[in-house]
Amino acid sequence: MYDQLRPDERLIIDAAKREGIDLALYDTDQITWDITSQHDGNELADAFLQRCMSYFRSIHITAALEARGKPVVNSLRASSTCGNKLMGSIALSRAKIPTPRTFVAFTREASLKALQQLGYPAVLKPVVGSWGRLVAQIKDPESAAAILEPREYMHPIQQVYYLQEKIKRPERDIRCYVIGDQAVAAIYRNAPPGEWRTNTARGGIAENLPLTPELQEISIRAAEAVGGGAFGVDLMETDSGFVVHEVNHTTEFKNTVRVTGVDIPKLLLQYAIEQAKA
Ligand SMILES: Nc1ncnc2c1ncn2[C@@H]1O[C@H](COP(=O)(O)OP(=O)(O)O)[C@@H](O)[C@H]1O
Ligand SMILES: [Mg+2]
Repeated sequence: MYDQLRPDERLIIDAAKREGIDLALYDTDQITWDITSQHDGNELADAFLQRCMSYFRSIHITAALEARGKPVVNSLRASSTCGNKLMGSIALSRAKIPTPRTFVAFTREASLKALQQLGYPAVLKPVVGSWGRLVAQIKDPESAAAILEPREYMHPIQQVYYLQEKIKRPERDIRCYVIGDQAVAAIYRNAPPGEWRTNTARGGIAENLPLTPELQEISIRAAEAVGGGAFGVDLMETDSGFVVHEVNHTTEFKNTVRVTGVDIPKLLLQYAIEQAKA
């Protein structure tokens, strides 16, 4: 299931050809399903890889497929948890996985109070979003007011203020891929010049990071905490070990495949097939 065919989806298509896997492509622009019937969507496939970039589109399609009894990678539970940073943080902290201290507030005034408790610098993030978009550093109360004000004129989801301590970390973070019960590959994402965010979509530079037992363990636990499936776990290094700041449910992997040589698209397809047989 896709809305756009990125290089990552093309790698999945190539892997399916190489492995002789019967892969059908569904352009979700074309979907017209009667969700009150028990049949629409039934004939499509035995299992689905959900690759829609749009979070909203993906969870609605996944809900319809799961209602037909179809396994979807990732499940509605996992993707709705991961697709919302607040839900993700709640799941991580409930599972006692080290994660940055995070507050939620709903007004500018309450956010300023929360920031007083968190201390500066802090980070404001949209609860739904990716690629580092609208993820802002807040250095002091003045810049807090300036950053929060325009959010009041945005979509109401941008007034769910997700405020987080800024972690003292090297100028990089870590992305670790977990598929089922295995951590399969990891990279450092080095921040590009003049940018504090490390997302590869913002020019972050991928570098192979050999897996260690410690990294594997925390990443697998994070994946379990959001319901299990196939994920990109985002971590940061601190003086007291790793913290997980986010678990991503529809991840891009082309840079990781390039620098680690791990065939993530093949592993994703095999995992989806296993779900069909389960
Ligand atoms: N609490 C934090 N402290 C320091 N850096 C952070 C923090 N949270 C996020 N970042 C940086 O910002 C980037 C984007 O944040 P993230 O929560 O992963 O959102 P997105 O979904 O947009 O990737 C991260 O990859 C990391 O480099
Ligand atoms: Mg991220």
